[in-house]
Amino acid sequence: MKQALLFLGLSLLMGTIALFALYDYDSFDSELWLTNGAKIATAYAAPVEAATPETKTPFAEGCNKCHANEPAYQEWHQAGHSHALVNLLEGPYEVQTSCLSCHSAGYELFSDRVYPGHTYNAETAVNAVACSSCHSHNSRSEHLLVKPAKHLCVTCHKMDCGCAGAGIIHQSQSEMFLGREGAGIKRMPSPHVRVMKKRCVQCHMTKEDPETVAQHGGHTFAAELSVCSTAGCHDSADNSMEVKLPQYRAEIEAKMQAVKAMLDAAPDKTSQAYLDAKLNHDMVKGDSGYGLHNMPYANALLDYSLSLKSELE
Ligand code: HEC
Ligand code: HEC
Ligand code: HEC
Ligand code: HEC
Ligand code: HEC
Repeated sequence: MKQALLFLGLSLLMGTIALFALYDYDSFDSELWLTNGAKIATAYAAPVEAATPETKTPFAEGCNKCHANEPAYQEWHQAGHSHALVNLLEGPYEVQTSCLSCHSAGYELFSDRVYPGHTYNAETAVNAVACSSCHSHNSRSEHLLVKPAKHLCVTCHKMDCGCAGAGIIHQSQSEMFLGREGAGIKRMPSPHVRVMKKRCVQCHMTKEDPETVAQHGGHTFAAELSVCSTAGCHDSADNSMEVKLPQYRAEIEAKMQAVKAMLDAAPDKTSQAYLDAKLNHDMVKGDSGYGLHNMPYANALLDYSLSLKSELE
């Protein structure tokens, strides 16, 4: 039975590859694409025997075959996402297969579930955080996103990466932006959560001209402070983020230093008060160094830590 299934699977795969070979890119027909797109994309995604340095680049998913000339593709090349797999594999931490769920687009695409018998791990991994981490031609969402924009980035950009024990603390953008998980402070979402329907995407992907390759925004995912002065937001002289942000930052950094000094001086580094104060400090630090994504929450977290001073002595 197993063999029969395997044979059937293989025949299907060969069939799709044959279909794909017949495909003429010069006369691209989007009607035909819409019917066969999913099959073609699957054919592109055939698993590779073993990863070589070339296959560790993010091209194994084949989106570049059709999308390489688009700004999205070229911008993504400038972004950290395209290095996520190499940085993980060459980094100083012990790599577990679960790390790949956020650091490699192949985790789902080339999984055992999709290709029975193909084990996806650090040795066989291909693809960084690439097009198919966020898009799928099988999706019905806007821009073929695998999740609506507001839920997309936070699936990976969170402190709790489920990789406890690996010795790495991930950044806290998600927790800070949504204002949760800190000790002693009730939920306090960033004011931006309410006004920005696409959340992270709104600041990190905004660009002036969709047709040109940008240095900020779009698929570089680089936010820029000029985004803040979009009409109706922080666009007045006394509300300019270029001026205000350094002030907020100085205030928060001063508090962080005070908390750090308090933590360093604490005789008992296992008490609940110590752990709470440290969690809040690390959350603020883990968000661009000073709680950038939610200043009111960052202040509240540090104030709470400072309020624990007498318990730490
Ligand atoms: C599949 C998981 C995943 C998703 C989804 C994801 N990211 Fe990332 N992101 C990563 C990883 C991993 C890195 C670290 C890459 C590295 O430097 O090794 C990263 C890095 C970044 C960086 C730093 C980039 C740089 O050039 O150094 C920014 C900014 C960023 N992501 C923004 C976003 C935004 C905005 C979204 C949503 C549109 C998003 N990410 C969605 C996994 C993800
Ligand atoms: C829930 C998703 C997720 C999981 C699981 C995950 N990471 Fe990450 N990792 C990220 C994101 C997002 C970033 C970029 C932002 C940051 O630095 O926190 C990142 C960044 C990193 C970086 C810094 C990259 C650089 O720029 O040098 C290293 C190293 C890293 N991760 C190692 C690991 C290891 C080791 C594991 C498994 C034990 C792991 N990660 C599991 C999401 C994840
Ligand atoms: C980290 C997630 C992420 C990755 C990786 C990613 N995209 Fe996107 N992409 C998005 C989001 C989110 C949007 C919608 C942006 C918006 O709503 O403003 C988008 C929009 C697009 C669009 C619509 C037009 C545009 O530029 O906004 C195209 C085309 C596109 N992506 C292609 C690609 C290709 C090709 C790749 C691989 C090189 C890729 N994307 C990688 C998240 C991603
Ligand atoms: C055989 C060529 C081909 C391949 C391979 C291909 N695409 Fe596409 N893609 C297209 C065409 C053509 C369209 C426009 C179709 C339409 O208008 O519906 C499109 C549309 C898209 C869009 C929507 C853009 C928008 O403006 O909203 C995204 C996102 C996308 N593809 C991502 C991917 C990803 C991710 C891969 C790899 C897993 C991929 N594509 C592989 C041909 C291809
Ligand atoms: C109000 C606008 C805004 C929103 C919303 C926003 N960011 Fe940011 N983000 C920024 C700015 C500004 C920076 C600092 C950019 C810099 O240092 O170049 C930044 C920095 C980052 C960085 C560090 C980049 C680096 O190069 O180290 C990451 C990662 C990141 N944001 C992810 C996210 C995620 C994930 C979300 C959603 C939970 C999000 N951001 C929501 C504006 C925003």
